[in-house]
Amino acid sequence: MVRIAILASGSGTNAQRLIEHFAGNALAKVVLVGCDQPEAGVIQRAWDHHVPCYLFTGAQLKDGTLLRELQGQRIDLVVLAGFMRLIPMEMVRAFPDRIVNIHPALLPKYGGKGMYGQHVHEAVIAAGETESGITIHLVNDRYDEGRVLFQAKCPVLPSDTVEVLAMRIHALEHEHYPVQVEKLVRSNS
Ligand code: GAR
Repeated sequence: MVRIAILASGSGTNAQRLIEHFAGNALAKVVLVGCDQPEAGVIQRAWDHHVPCYLFTGAQLKDGTLLRELQGQRIDLVVLAGFMRLIPMEMVRAFPDRIVNIHPALLPKYGGKGMYGQHVHEAVIAAGETESGITIHLVNDRYDEGRVLFQAKCPVLPSDTVEVLAMRIHALEHEHYPVQVEKLVRSNS
């Protein structure tokens, strides 16, 4: 059984889909949700699904406290689902090709520091793009630069607001992220 930890900073809709997807799955299970924002919606979602939540600070991410917790809980795969901080090198080395992220745009476009959540959709609309999408990729120590595993596209319509585009992107994420994480689990085991 592959033991998955999700790291999230926000509402946690992707985290919830992942938890639900792997509930009752013989191959893998979400055993922990790690969160760096004490007010984040993901905490309630984890509780509702009986998944323990581990709260940590930015300092604890940097000083290895979170890494030790993940190792102590024998985590095999770390799945970032709306996690807004850079993963330290020490953690990348401890989980080689075992940390995966989802980004709400077609990388390498609209990636990098500061490009997260609504900011990404604002930039896509401001640039007049006619399509956007999602990127699922392995994580290295630079924002949004690890090996791409999967991309899916959707249109950007002239009438789109940030909220409408965010909803379209979320729908794509919910459809594909659990399936792609399961694919990664299968290819690693
Ligand atoms: C998702 O759209 C995810 O792609 C994005 O944050 C949102 C979290 O939504 N991640 C990033 O921007 C990472 N750079 P959720 O909390 O509802 O899953």
